[in-house]
Formats: sequence, structure tokens, C-alpha cells
Amino acid sequence: MPYLTIEDAPRFRWRGLMLDVARHFMPKEGVLRYLDLMAAHKLNVFHFHLTDDQGWRIEIQRHPRLTEIGSWRARTKTGHRASPLWEEKPHGGYYTRDDIREIVAYAAERHITVVPEIDVPGHSQAAIAAYPELGNTDVIDTTALSVWDTWGINPNVLAPTDNTLRFYEGVFEEVLELFPSEFVHVGGDECPKDQWRRSKTAQARIRELGLADEDELQSWFIGHFDSWLAARGRRLIGWDEILEGGLAEGAAVSSWRGYAGGIAAARAGHDVVMCPEQQVYLDHRQDPGPEEPVPIGWVRTLEDVYRFEPVPPELTPDEARHVLGTQANLWTEVMEDHARVDYQAFPRLAAFAEVAWSALPDPAERDFDGFQRRMTAHYRRLDALGVAYRPPTGPLPWQRRPGVLGRPIDGPPPSR
Ligand code: ACM
Repeated sequence: MPYLTIEDAPRFRWRGLMLDVARHFMPKEGVLRYLDLMAAHKLNVFHFHLTDDQGWRIEIQRHPRLTEIGSWRARTKTGHRASPLWEEKPHGGYYTRDDIREIVAYAAERHITVVPEIDVPGHSQAAIAAYPELGNTDVIDTTALSVWDTWGINPNVLAPTDNTLRFYEGVFEEVLELFPSEFVHVGGDECPKDQWRRSKTAQARIRELGLADEDELQSWFIGHFDSWLAARGRRLIGWDEILEGGLAEGAAVSSWRGYAGGIAAARAGHDVVMCPEQQVYLDHRQDPGPEEPVPIGWVRTLEDVYRFEPVPPELTPDEARHVLGTQANLWTEVMEDHARVDYQAFPRLAAFAEVAWSALPDPAERDFDGFQRRMTAHYRRLDALGVAYRPPTGPLPWQRRPGVLGRPIDGPPPSR
């Protein structure tokens, strides 16, 4: 090697990857492997999406039914949300406290912080199936709910009661014991307010607190955990819906529905992680052709990801300082195993990692040809690591299944 000096430093302190282990469980060994892949790409925040309607994945000693009941579903929708196909087989799994300790330590050895997410007050059907009293019992019979077996936005949300707050304080106490991260993610996304509108208990709470509406009730709920975490020396982060109805004092925001939430939060002096779904949701299709195994969402090619810019030009330099960094998100509704996760993640995660680390020029001026030339060597490294990436040329590893799975049906959701 010739003598040389390398001067290098990351552009952002938060270079994240979110993995959803609720929709499809990834056994511990798979998570450790992803931590290795993150470290190989200098990513340093692992956002661990541990709970959702379709599964609760972390052992909580004081509430054992969360995993006894909440970590298994009876069957699973196959493909995107409009698919008529099902896999009639139980799916589940969870991480024990020892598993979590091992994951957190393995990450730390690789300079990766694990940020746990417990999603409230929406995306909670698995918890309600385990403990029906957590739901809006004056609106529906929550004892009839099971861990959800399909995809989409779920109407069965937590009841805004003292009982729910105490229950989740217990959950978060155990979470804090296991995860030393400064930030703790509380979700806050996609919480339909219909049950709260119909619930006498929720309406009474709105009146008692002098709130204007259900959005403010959600803010109160999130605000409770903001203060609760702050009192324990931690900081709350949530999806950008937590802006609706007023952002809690110390909260940081994961801006996923585009840049707007992140811009509003940064202007109000809150820290932000930019992860707009139009750019860095790696579950979305990576090619407009019909070959993608389950082609959901927007088309985001490797080049699109390489040209992604985390800091929107609307922000002044002072406001832009609140952008802690950026994160790619892997939601796993249509990724049932490692190979599918690899296929969605790579090679786009390599492009994302370069965006998160390097001070690249304006998106239009970025040297994508140069990136692709460098990828020629990097594909060999990915081969050596056994990564089932989407090949840049040649046949795809997927045998197209006839019918629903091969057709691009799920376009961008009309509401976004
Ligand atoms: C999200 O994609 N619901 C954060």
C-alpha cells in the first residue's frame, strides 16, 4: 500500500436502518447478521421496530401475555394488502431479555446504537389481543381480538386510560433496563381516531383535560411518555404524526410522510431524522418492471436512492442543525425471510450509506456512474458476505409466481 493519509468523517451522526421484526419475525441470528451488514456500511443507529398489530416481539416480564399471546398470529396475508392469498400457518417468535442484551452488546461492539420502538397508541392490536383491557372496551368487544393477520392501518387502538399509561410505563421500565440508548421510539404513527370519537371514556378524558379534539388527546398521550422518559434521562422520538395536536416538549421526529413533518419540527427547534417514504422506504419496489417479487409502493431505483438528499433546501443552516441524520426503513409485510429482506435492502442500502456518510454534491450533480463503478467491487464483497442483493443485470432470483404476487397493484396510497 502506498503511504497516504485519509481524512474522513461522517456527515450525519444518525445513519440509521429501521427493521420491522413485527410483521415478519427475524430470529436473533438474522438480526446480528444485519448489525454486521450495517457496520460494514458505517451505519450506526439500528431502529428496532419491536411491536405492531401483527406481533409483539420483546419479552416483558411483568406482562407475560404480551409474548405468550401477542407474539404469534394464526395465519398471514401473502403479498401486498389487497392480495386474496393467505398462508394458513402460525407465524411468530420473540426476543428474550437475554437475546436483547446480546443484540445490544453486539451492536455496541460495532459502534451501533439500538433504538427500541414500542409503537403506541396505534399499531397495538397484538398487545390488545394479549390484554383486552388496553383497548377501547366501551366501543368494541376487545376480548374477541386476535393478533392481526393482515396488513394496513388498524382501527383497534389503545384506550387513553390511566390503566393503559401504567401498563406501558411498566413496559418502558423494562425497555430502559435493556436498551441504554439516549432515544426511545414510541411510534405514534397511523392511529385512527374513530374509536376515541365513539368512546365515552376517551371523550370524558378529552373534556377533563380541556383538550380540543382527538388529535390533542394523542398529543397528551405521547406527551405523557415524553415527560416520563425525560425524567429518566432519555429522549422521546416518534413518527411525524406526533406533530398533530402539538409536539411534546423534548420530542424528536422521524419524518416519514415526506419532508414536511421534519421541516416543521426543525423550524420549531426539535431534532429530526429524515426518512421520507418516497425516498428511503426500501420495501418499495426498486424497478418499474413486472419482475419485482411483490412490487409495492413508489418505484425507487438505486439511482433514486443515491440522489436522495436528507436536508431539504427550505431549511436555514440553523434549522438544518436539527437534522440529526437520516434512516432507511425496512417494513417487512412482504419480506418473509432473510433473502427477501436482503433483496429489498441491497444494493440500495449501499447507496443510502454513502448519502448518510459523505458530503455529496447536490443530488443532480452526484456521480452515479462513479458510484456504479465502485459498486462493481462492492458486489463482490456482498457476495462474500452472502447477501442476496438485487443483481444489477441478468435474471432475478425470484421465480415469478402467477397472479397477484407478480402484479404491481399497490401504488402510492391515495391518502399520501
Ligand atoms: C410508518 O411508515 N407508518 C411510519
